[in-house]
Amino acid sequence: MCQQSIFFHLLLCLLLTLGSTSAEFISIGTSIAKPNCQSKCGNLTVPFPFGIGLGAGCSLGSWFDVNCNTSFNPPRPYIGTGNLEILDISDNTLKIKNWVASRCYNQFGNITQENRVLIDLATTPFTFSDINKFSVLGCDEFALMAGSEGRNFTSGCVSVCFSIDDLIDGDCSGIGCCQTAIPKGLKRFNTNLGTLYSHLNIWSFAPCGYAFLGDPDSFRFSVSDLNNTAFQNRTIENVPVVLDWAIGTQNCSEAQGSSDFACLQNSYCLDSDTGLGGYRCSCSDGYKGNPYLSPGCIDINECEINPCDENGICTNTQGSYTCSCANGYSGDGRKDGRGCNAKNSQFPLIKFALGIPLMFLTRLYSYCNIESIKIFVL
Ligand SMILES: *[C@@H]1O[C@H](CO)[C@@H](O)[C@H](O)[C@H]1NC(C)=O
Ligand SMILES: *[C@@H]1O[C@H](CO)[C@@H](O)[C@H](O)[C@H]1NC(C)=O
Ligand SMILES: *[C@@H]1O[C@H](CO)[C@@H](O)[C@H](O)[C@H]1NC(C)=O
Ligand SMILES: *[C@@H]1O[C@H](CO)[C@@H](O)[C@H](O)[C@H]1NC(C)=O
Ligand SMILES: *[C@@H]1O[C@H](CO)[C@@H](O)[C@H](O)[C@H]1NC(C)=O
Ligand SMILES: *[C@@H]1O[C@H](CO)[C@@H](O)[C@H](O)[C@H]1NC(C)=O
Ligand SMILES: *[C@@H]1O[C@H](CO)[C@@H](O)[C@H](O)[C@H]1NC(C)=O
Repeated sequence: MCQQSIFFHLLLCLLLTLGSTSAEFISIGTSIAKPNCQSKCGNLTVPFPFGIGLGAGCSLGSWFDVNCNTSFNPPRPYIGTGNLEILDISDNTLKIKNWVASRCYNQFGNITQENRVLIDLATTPFTFSDINKFSVLGCDEFALMAGSEGRNFTSGCVSVCFSIDDLIDGDCSGIGCCQTAIPKGLKRFNTNLGTLYSHLNIWSFAPCGYAFLGDPDSFRFSVSDLNNTAFQNRTIENVPVVLDWAIGTQNCSEAQGSSDFACLQNSYCLDSDTGLGGYRCSCSDGYKGNPYLSPGCIDINECEINPCDENGICTNTQGSYTCSCANGYSGDGRKDGRGCNAKNSQFPLIKFALGIPLMFLTRLYSYCNIESIKIFVL
């Protein structure tokens, strides 16, 4: 049968493929950048409310402008007019390239090199995420971290050790490496390194001290870091700083109803948990797309990944779907439920007759190997 009707099959496959292609085409409504705006800077995808170009009108507001500097190859994205390079943008965070404070000494205890760090996010909609930890490396170090805007405080870490044999790779708990948490809502980060004994006793294996804020999951302490001038650059490359972002300073209930409320159709509003106000938007269940971009989130056609029994009929609805059973079958029609069972197996002819269209399509489905053939079952 296959041999005889192979041409017929191929023709049908072709039609089905064309059909499913156009169906898929229709379902791609999830543009992530604002229409007519560049969506990528180098490897970074920039979704609205962020947008590429200073004052280009591609973002929700000037602080969501991404400055794509094309004098680098590949081009590098920066936050606004500043020098914070963006590595990743997600639904609620930004990852930026790190800045590492350092101080090195010679064997006489003189400072030979020093690098301080101050990152100020005060006027931006960003705060340092409390995922970050403040890490200090060294064996004769104390480092202070001063934060302000939001809640002013000074905190820090001290690490004093005497022998390289006491240090353990991967163990950042106070000997050679010290880590401390930061409060939520931190907007300004300023760090300074200091020394108790001018490195005189430990200079041979730990001539420098380092301090940085960053994602602890991307950092693993190695004893050799203490005597490795490449540490600073390696950390800048490998350990990002995580920032939380939010829209405005009003919470959801304050912002809802205002004319510039950013959460569009079929989305819901989430209060920022930084304690500084602001909100974000997320698509409601059963919807996808970019909640900040007109027209808002669009319905997911669940029937494309048929969640119904093979004898069931899937019907897409706004935000959801229903399954029912073909005539002669009973059940809830769902793959994850009771499915569809033949009502009465004494009438195989009826079952056969009704089964034909579905079986036929199922055969074709496996024959053509097309995922979205279920569209035609609707
Ligand atoms: C950027 O993408 C190119 C090609 O896809 C890849 O070779 C390169 O490693 C990527 N660079 C970064 C920094 O991810
Ligand atoms: C791009 O980076 C270069 C080198 O750091 C700098 O001189 C230039 O001003 C930057 N351009 C923009 C548009 O920021
Ligand atoms: C190094 O330290 C010594 C003593 O602490 C001091 O006399 C000397 O001037 C310092 N040298 C430099 C270059 O700072
Ligand atoms: C917090 O620090 C900032 C800048 O250092 C200062 O302007 C502000 O008055 C301080 N706030 C409090 C409550 O001390
Ligand atoms: C520290 O690094 C220097 C230069 O790489 C090397 O000469 C020295 O032996 C190292 N010291 C220790 C204790 O590993
Ligand atoms: C670290 O990177 C900077 C800038 O890319 C470079 O000038 C410097 O030589 C590097 N330092 C080391 C120790 O590799
Ligand atoms: C939103 O802000 C208003 C005014 O500051 C406050 O009264 C209300 O409790 C806040 N709502 C939530 C859910 O935090």
